Amino acid sequence: MDKQKQIKAPRGTYDILPDSSYKWSWINKKFAETAAAFRYLEMVTPVFESSQLFERSVGGQTDIVEKEMYKFKDRKGRLLALRPEGTAPVVRSYIENNLQAGNSTAKLYYNGPMFRYDRPQKGRYRQFYQYGIEYIGTADPYADTEVILFSDMLISRLGLTNYRLEINSIGCSKCSESYNQVLSNYFAKYGDELCGDCRKRLINNPKRLLDCKVSSCKAIAEDAPSIVDYLDEECSEHFSQVKSYLDLLEVDYIVNPKIVRGLDYYNRTAFELIDILTETQNALLGGGRYDTLIASLGGKKTPAVGMAGGIERLIAAMERENLEFGMEPKPEVYVINNDCSTKKEAIKLTAELRKNGLWVEFEIDKNSFNKQFKTALKSGAAFAVIIGPEEVATGTVTIKNLTIEEQKRYKNSEATGYLKEKLR
Ligand code: HAM
Repeated sequence: MDKQKQIKAPRGTYDILPDSSYKWSWINKKFAETAAAFRYLEMVTPVFESSQLFERSVGGQTDIVEKEMYKFKDRKGRLLALRPEGTAPVVRSYIENNLQAGNSTAKLYYNGPMFRYDRPQKGRYRQFYQYGIEYIGTADPYADTEVILFSDMLISRLGLTNYRLEINSIGCSKCSESYNQVLSNYFAKYGDELCGDCRKRLINNPKRLLDCKVSSCKAIAEDAPSIVDYLDEECSEHFSQVKSYLDLLEVDYIVNPKIVRGLDYYNRTAFELIDILTETQNALLGGGRYDTLIASLGGKKTPAVGMAGGIERLIAAMERENLEFGMEPKPEVYVINNDCSTKKEAIKLTAELRKNGLWVEFEIDKNSFNKQFKTALKSGAAFAVIIGPEEVATGTVTIKNLTIEEQKRYKNSEATGYLKEKLR
């Protein structure tokens, strides 16, 4: 028979393997804890949506929608897309399920896979895991600050210290009118020196040129006029208040007028948390205000602000800083037994220890005591419980502390109590 060709995971995707899945769990736990502290409630939306949703929100001419969206027709010819981000689906659901009824604000969080057909590299995947929050229903600048504070608190709860918060205001459509004109005039001078994408952006959305990653465009953008100088009075006041609340809360930040974000729905506040230990894919998370999105998707005019970040980038940053990911899933107790005569006693004790909440590994392979010992040591368990013929005959078990290499016999009836006291 022909050898079957091995099937691999699609390019840009990866498997979360058992030896590292606890890192994902740890970050999910810290995120859920932070969400609880700020009183956000979870929302789960489908991984695919009508492609129109993203065209109308993220924007048909953004890289995310134009180049990176997984778009397909289902069997009935409906145009669908794997979600590239979480804000538009949350807003779609908020409107569809009438969540504004009776509530002035909604504070929602989500966490799940997103899909972007980008060139894969470290920190950039075609399927990645994104957590995010949306604070819907308030234009108060404190809400912007609170979303930023949430981001800062999440990152510091994970123990990360090498990051920088960058904030900006991109104003509203009124400020953009004059600013876009000034910006177009500035970049137009460079004509052919701009990359192909930027020449298109010059016509559609000149602000996006500030964000281009091509080094020649970056150099040109260096001296571009700053949006901060073109904010109208209200946007300027909003930005001042966001900053003054950040000062009040002693959150460190820098104003970076080049932060424009790659999605069309933003106005006013835009921010990113940057990992300073790496040059590429260094945005740990990003977000901003989107006061017109809900109305543009058919809801009532409702202001909102939010943020999202990639779990992979947090894991990489934590690994760079040698941080711990909570409890590694090591067994606490390793039960060693003799397959023939002592297996039943060992099975019973294992079940009792587990019933009492301990993490217990039971050796199922018919290995020698010596080999089982070695496996117990390698597993990282704190204690080994040995049940040999002598123990069975005397109604006892031997408990060995694997850290200090000390062992002692206990009556069967005392074993669980002793281990619980030591481990809990
Ligand atoms: P975004 O900047 O497109 O914003 O993505 C947020 C974060 O998701 C990035 O900072 C990065 O950590 C992570 N990320 C994005 N693309 C990838 C990728 N291909 N691979 C790995 N990680 C990635 C949004 O998605 C907005 N919805 C954020 C938001 C929420 N604004 C308001 N509310």
